[in-house]
Amino acid sequence: MSHGETDIDVLVGDVRAARKYRSVMPEIIRTIGIRELARRETAAEAKKATTRTLHQIAGAYLPGGLQTERWLKTLRSAAPGEFRAACREVMSLHASTQERLPVLGEFYSILLGDLPPIRSVLDIGCGLNPLAIPWMPLAEDCVYAACDIYEDLAVMLCDFFGIVGIRGHAQTQDAVRNAPSDETDVALLLKLLPCLEHIECGAGGRLLDALHARCILISFPVHSLGGRRDKGMGENYERRFLRLTRDRNWSIERFSFPTELVFRVQIDRQPAARLAATAPFAAPVEASSGAMAHAGRRASPAPTHGRSQRTNVNSQSG
Ligand SMILES: C[S@@+](CC[C@H](N)C(=O)[O-])C[C@H]1O[C@@H](n2cnc3c(N)ncnc32)[C@H](O)[C@@H]1O
Repeated sequence: MSHGETDIDVLVGDVRAARKYRSVMPEIIRTIGIRELARRETAAEAKKATTRTLHQIAGAYLPGGLQTERWLKTLRSAAPGEFRAACREVMSLHASTQERLPVLGEFYSILLGDLPPIRSVLDIGCGLNPLAIPWMPLAEDCVYAACDIYEDLAVMLCDFFGIVGIRGHAQTQDAVRNAPSDETDVALLLKLLPCLEHIECGAGGRLLDALHARCILISFPVHSLGGRRDKGMGENYERRFLRLTRDRNWSIERFSFPTELVFRVQIDRQPAARLAATAPFAAPVEASSGAMAHAGRRASPAPTHGRSQRTNVNSQSG
């Protein structure tokens, strides 16, 4: 059904009128809304489908909504010895950082601790993850860039960087339409790819192609949002991730935490074959023979670090 400019303007305004979505950048509502208006019979159906997608990619992780003023107050008023506890308290209010809290102590030391000095980080679809900076082994002069789709969150994180004393910047950016491509030592794509695939099939692969990072951490949930451990979930994401990366000239290590499955990619900066993105994460995909071949090449697991387990997935880079 054909809908016009007015319909999309009305849809964006209506969606943003809801408290839950008033801080979501209008551009992403517009992108999703245009697609839904083209697919649905009525504007009301299109609005409903748009809010459903926004819930899946963002709203579901913030059951209490964005309370950035209150969060900043908690962080600002923390005594020096209680700052980490205050960060934990605020991170517990975003479902994605909340489920990382039990392993936070080891998470970043295992994933980042053995890398060359980290002078720049790009945290894409960051949520409240920048509040984990006190746990990250970063160089003194590290610059931290973060993006998400919430305007209020970007403002709050800019204040947070000042409080924690790091050179940082946060902004709203839709990683589907406008993939960050700045050179960086480490890019964090933590539990982001399944969200991007909800917006557009193939978006995860295009983001990976656009990045200019020496190291990328890409993670996937192993629990449903309700906390139920789903054995098939991690395996499914792993299969699809390996299929997505099988022809890239990448060295990949796999780290299995009780809360999250992480792939650490170290990139050979020589020109490498870039693939058309083919592996949606948002819909079940059968394992391809290529993905199984990768799994077959996997080295024996390295010694377990704490409660995580590390495995070399492949080692193609020269
Ligand atoms: C599953 S949460 C992960 C948050 C954080 N990376 C972590 O692991 O703690 C997904 C995050 O991506 C953000 N997001 C969803 N779609 C996005 C997009 N197109 N561009 C940028 N961020 C997006 C959401 O607002 C949400 O904060």
